[in-house]
Amino acid sequence: MNETLRIIAKRYSCRAFTDQAPTDSQLTTVAEAAAAAPSGVNRQPWRVIVVRDRGLMAELEAEAMAVLSAQEDRATYDRMMQRGGKLFYNAPAMMVLPLDGAAGGSKLDCGILCQTAVLAAESLGLNTLICGLAGLAFAGDKAEYFKERLGFPQGYEFGIAILLGHSAADGAPHQPDASKISYIG
Ligand SMILES: Cc1cc2nc3c(=O)[nH]c(=O)nc-3n(C[C@H](O)[C@H](O)[C@H](O)COP(=O)(O)O)c2cc1C
Repeated sequence: MNETLRIIAKRYSCRAFTDQAPTDSQLTTVAEAAAAAPSGVNRQPWRVIVVRDRGLMAELEAEAMAVLSAQEDRATYDRMMQRGGKLFYNAPAMMVLPLDGAAGGSKLDCGILCQTAVLAAESLGLNTLICGLAGLAFAGDKAEYFKERLGFPQGYEFGIAILLGHSAADGAPHQPDASKISYIG
């Protein structure tokens, strides 16, 4: 197995982070690797926003949790409460990846950007969690406040977020389902 395949195979969603933050150099490397991701017509319809401010992360997490707790469907809220009520799992840093919907930015572009960043981070020995629920902070009354705090350009909407740090506990990759692969010819 080569290094790229080893990184893909060992990645798992980290849901318990230590307080040790990624270094600035690691975060820069990950952000620049993400920015090298392909996109439709090379529009690069995204921003990569590196958040090292734990106070701001706590604000985002609290707002996302408040929006989640107000939802009629309790399933996700209950699941998160079972996991300790923390959407960010004590992560010391995150990347928020907003998308320019108006300029033809697609969720597919955003997903490729996201996974490029994740694999770059994992290759540096960091652990990661892709965090869609962070988007709830941009779905409630404080949406415009947070877009401004994070510096979203006009017309950009939350795409996805990635939590970054070091795992506090052993985790294991999920078992790939080989039955979903088919070969013709
Ligand atoms: C688009 C996307 C959004 C996700 N959002 C969350 C999230 O908000 N919270 C969370 O704990 N996990 C989140 N995950 C992680 C998935 O639950 C996880 O990837 C899946 O269960 C497979 O586990 P693995 O990553 O350990 O292989 C997200 C994953 C993706 C791809």
